[in-house]
Parts: sequence; structure tokens; C-alpha cells
Amino acid sequence: MTDKTQSIHGQWSSRFAFILAATGSAVGLGNIWKFPYIAGENGGGAFVMVYLLCVAALGVPIMIAEIMLGRRGRKSPINTMQDLATEAGADPRWQYLGWMGMVAGFLILAYYSVIAGWAMAYIVKAFFGSFMNSSAEEIQRLFENLMASPVQQIFWHTAFMLITMQLVMRGVQGGLEKAVRFLIPTLFVILIFLVGYAMTSGGYQQAMTFLFDPDFSKIDADAVLTAMGHAFFTLSLGMGAIMVYGSYLPGHVSIAKTTFYIAGADTIVALLAGIAIFPLVFANNLETGAGPGLIFQTLPLAFGHMGGGWLFGLLFFVLLFFAALSSSISLIEPAVAWLVENKNIQRHQACVWSGTACWALGVGVVFSFNIWSDLKLFDKNLFQLLDYLTANLMLPLGGMAIAIFAGWMMKTADVEQELEIPSQGFQVWQFLIKYLAPVAVFLVFLHVLGVL
Ligand code: PFF
Ligand code: NA
Repeated sequence: MTDKTQSIHGQWSSRFAFILAATGSAVGLGNIWKFPYIAGENGGGAFVMVYLLCVAALGVPIMIAEIMLGRRGRKSPINTMQDLATEAGADPRWQYLGWMGMVAGFLILAYYSVIAGWAMAYIVKAFFGSFMNSSAEEIQRLFENLMASPVQQIFWHTAFMLITMQLVMRGVQGGLEKAVRFLIPTLFVILIFLVGYAMTSGGYQQAMTFLFDPDFSKIDADAVLTAMGHAFFTLSLGMGAIMVYGSYLPGHVSIAKTTFYIAGADTIVALLAGIAIFPLVFANNLETGAGPGLIFQTLPLAFGHMGGGWLFGLLFFVLLFFAALSSSISLIEPAVAWLVENKNIQRHQACVWSGTACWALGVGVVFSFNIWSDLKLFDKNLFQLLDYLTANLMLPLGGMAIAIFAGWMMKTADVEQELEIPSQGFQVWQFLIKYLAPVAVFLVFLHVLGVL
């Protein structure tokens, strides 16, 4: 435990408030939009298995480490890393870990906001009954029309970014703490309801086999990297988001227990989303590898055909929007906290600066779905490039560095005192963080490079 004074940016009102905020950061588009489509693109079961393994063996221990670093440092990730490096007598260049995280958050938010904009566009479509009795082709066309329209996408992307900036301006204990309290339970209920519907759709057995019967011949090194990267992405790890949230955490709170709640909730939401979506894919002969449009081309089909579908569709996209919002604010918080600490500017100014820069890059992401779709680097358009660079490279690298720092640089006594885990649990955690996490990430990188 630490008795160091609070962060200058404020503090969560309780442990529960932190759990809500961190779960809000974790549960988002990554679970409902991204997990199903990348599982579909990478052949299902084996990919899902590697992802689950990475969440348990890398995600959980690294989340404990990242929260711990944040709470001990009590500043933005850059300054936290600098202070902790000094405290541990380590190289001051550990602060670059904070820098990389800040840049990663910025790059992720640029496309995250565009996708969240799609969800907003679908709130309106749901409201006007656009899914009612539609065929799979009609639903598909609805999505393609949105993709073809830079104007519509930029409109919603702008709206989402403005709302994010507005919320971040209000600071740590703003309204979102309260919103998330309702968001997560309601999201659970809706997803369980959708799973119930999917069970009757005729594709359920096939979907369960696809998702949970692993066929390891279907995955290659890049699929393993994607699964590992997604474990970091979905838990908001490796870029300082959870670290900065940890910096607002009161002392005397069990970090380990808290982590289990967050990772557990995040994993359940992702699996429920997969189980809700894939039966629809198989029942309607859709593509498992449809890509980023997958949920937008499947779930509306269910809403358009089930009793009460209008209300459920509307509610679902509203919730998806809120889930995205509670994540987006954590993507930008490291940058805002750093600007306030180091550039001596007001919080609202920091929000305007970082939000605007992010927005501009997001406009480029919108174009990558239409007028710039052929503009490719390493065979990837801008959206794919940002996604690969952040989720597959920067977050695992950041997570590995966090593990090495917590496991090898800090004094064991300090870490033990901060975490207060019973000694056996502590030894398991220490093993995972010192050996397994760094080695696993390193080996996967080597494998992708073709060295191994
Ligand atoms: N964890 C979020 C999701 O699954 O949607 C995305 C995210 C938020 C990634 C914050 C990274 C982060 F720092
Ligand atoms: Na997530």
C-alpha cells in the first residue's frame, strides 16, 4: 500500500468506482465489434483459445503490474515511469514507455472514434426502423452505404470526438462513473437475451463448434500475434490507460482482486458477443471473415426479425455507444494528464488540443474506408495500419516493458508492499511477470519475424 498523497488530477471515490471506470475502459468496441470479427477472420476456435490463454497468463498479471505502477507513481504514465525509475535506480529512459503509450492511445482513439461513430449512425437507423424485416442483402447494403459515405462517417466521428472531449474535461469523477454503473449490467442482460435468440436461429451448433473447437492448423504466426495483441487491447493494457486510472486509485485497495473482476467481466462480454453473432452468420450463410463490418451486418438482421426487435436494437447500439465512450476517455487520459503536468495548461485546453489532433487523424481513417481504400502501405490501408501498429506491436511491447520493469527493475520489497497479496499468490504473479510474460511476447515477435 502507499500513503503517498493523491494525484493532482483527483482520485476515485472508492474501490468500486475504480472497478467501474477500469471495467468501462476495458469493455468496449474491442469486445463487441473487434473480437468477433478477428475471431472470424482467423478461423475461430484455435484463435479464441490463444486469446483466452493470453488474457489469463499475460493480461491478468500485467494488469496487476500496470495498476500497481500507476498507484505508486500517482502521475501521468510518462512522469510515473520517470519517478519510479529514479526510485528504483533504473535508467531514466524508462519514461519512453510512457511516451509510447501516449502515442498508442492517440493512434487507437483516431480509429476507435470512427468505429464508435458507426455505432452512433446505427442508433439512428435502429430508431427509424431501418432493420425491420430486412433481408441479409439489405442489411449488408445499409452498411456498405455508410462505408461509401465520407460525409456521414465524418459527421458521426466528429460528434463522438466532441462528446469524448467534453467528458474528459470534467475529469476523474465526472458523470461517467455513474453511467458505467448501469451500462455494464444492462449490456450483460442484452447480450444474454441476444444469445437466447441466436440459439433459436438454427446456426447455434455450428457457431459453438466454430468458436470453441480449436483447429490449430488454421492459425499461423500472425494469427497468434493478433490474438495476443487483442488480449492487451481488450484489457486496455500496455499503453498507460490502466496505469493512469491506477494513479487515481486510493491506497489500501487490493489490486489483484480488482483485476480479476475487470478481466472476468471483459472476457465474458467478448464471449457472449461471439456467441450472439456467429449463429446468425451461419444461419444466414454470411462470411465469417467479413471483417470490421461483421456486427453491423449480422445483429441488425436479428433485430429486424425478432419480437421487440426495434427496442432491443435501439438499446443495443445505445449501449455500444456508451461502452465505446467509457473506453475512449481512457485512451486520451494519459495525454491529457501529461499536458496538464508538464505544459502547465488547463485541463480543458489539454482536451481540446489532444482531441483535435486525434480527430484529424480519424478523418484519414474515414477515408481509408472509401476514397483512400486503395492507398496501401505494407499491403494495409490506414485503418489496418493503425490497428496493426497499435494492437499487434505497441501494446504487446508496452506490456512486455511493464512486466520487465515491475519484475526486474523495482525492488521486490516495494512491490510486495504495494500489492499486499498473500505470499503464494505473490510468487505466482512474480514468476509470470518476470519470466513468462516477457519471454512469451518476445517469442511471438520472433515467430512473426520468421526467426523462430
Ligand atoms: N479495451 C478497449 C476495448 O476493448 O474496446 C479499448 C482500449 C481502451 C484499448 C483503452 C486500450 C486502451 F488503453
Ligand atoms: Na475490451
